[in-house]
Amino acid sequence: MVGGALGWQVHQRRNRALLLSGAILFFFIFVLRLHLTIPYFPSSLSDGVSSPSSSFNRDSSCVSFLNDVAWDPHNSSSYYWARSPQVVACQFQRLARANASDLLSGSWVVVAGDSQARLFVVSLLGLVLDSEEMEAIRGDLFKRHSDYRHVVGEIGLKLDFVWAPYEANLTGLVMEFKRNLNYPDVLVMGSGLWHMLHLTNSSDYGVWLTSLRNELVGSGFSAHLFWLGMPRLINSMLNTEEKRVKMSDAVVAAYDREIYQSKLLRQFGGGPLLLLDVESLSRKCGVSCTVDGMHYDGVVYEAAVHVMLNTLRI
Ligand SMILES: *[C@@H]1O[C@H](CO)[C@@H](O)[C@H](O)[C@H]1NC(C)=O
Ligand SMILES: *[C@@H]1O[C@H](CO)[C@@H](O)[C@H](O)[C@H]1NC(C)=O
Ligand SMILES: *[C@@H]1O[C@H](CO)[C@@H](O)[C@H](O)[C@H]1NC(C)=O
Ligand SMILES: *[C@@H]1O[C@H](CO)[C@@H](O)[C@H](O)[C@H]1NC(C)=O
Repeated sequence: MVGGALGWQVHQRRNRALLLSGAILFFFIFVLRLHLTIPYFPSSLSDGVSSPSSSFNRDSSCVSFLNDVAWDPHNSSSYYWARSPQVVACQFQRLARANASDLLSGSWVVVAGDSQARLFVVSLLGLVLDSEEMEAIRGDLFKRHSDYRHVVGEIGLKLDFVWAPYEANLTGLVMEFKRNLNYPDVLVMGSGLWHMLHLTNSSDYGVWLTSLRNELVGSGFSAHLFWLGMPRLINSMLNTEEKRVKMSDAVVAAYDREIYQSKLLRQFGGGPLLLLDVESLSRKCGVSCTVDGMHYDGVVYEAAVHVMLNTLRI
């Protein structure tokens, strides 16, 4: 549970439960059948916010639609959740500053990874801070290859960015939380690009992901756990020859396979981490949303932040 948000969530849930129609129920029964075939389904993500009520069906099915975001083809800064009946029933929404702040108040959020994770932090702070506050911290935020902490005093949000370009760094971080018995409320992790560029060995990547998964499963985490997926790489736009060679489409596909095979993700194999699907979000935003084929405009990470926040509301 995220501090301060529970009352609000319960209220939301009650409202939503009332909105269930017969047609939607039919759909849930169908989805529930699919879910029952997943062998391992961790409870940690819904700790404290799920109750054995009728909304259970809705919650677990909505998780699979969280990343169903579409982009306005005429305006690359405009995105919305897909308008299919199933997605509409989940009532996902872009949260305004006050609502995002409510949801995150009193919580400790840790985001660990490479430059994609840093961009995610920028978007998250951009949502809870006003533009003046954002300007004031911009310099610190963009110091490359360093950790960063920001406390938003008014709402008691503690946000840590941990520079962790390799999977080993993420596993080390998780071990540290366990050693100190001190766990964040929300943990967002992601890596892969550094491994791809510097080691270029997908099976080694898979080995590390499996060890990260093993470290997380059965740990004391009751946190909301997320995996920040790799962006879509546009090979011809990558800015060095080395990147174009090593980060080829075939290598990217092999790395993707390892992510699924490691059973790290909740959506694929019932793993501990919920995917924030940056690949899908960046692909939908499109070529015009990136200048180097790897780092995307803020709007892509902002969408990922909203996907995460909506998960916290489920
Ligand atoms: C594009 O979308 C953004 C965000 O929704 C909006 O603020 C902006 O006015 C839109 N631009 C155009 C040209 O419609
Ligand atoms: C956002 O906050 C406002 C004011 O606090 C509230 O009226 C509104 O219902 C909230 N929106 C959502 C989606 O909860
Ligand atoms: C991250 O992991 C790499 C590879 O194991 C290691 O060389 C590096 O020192 C670690 N970096 C940090 C910041 O822990
Ligand atoms: C790739 O990684 C695997 C697993 O760590 C290792 O067994 C293999 O030797 C590596 N391959 C190369 C070419 O380094």
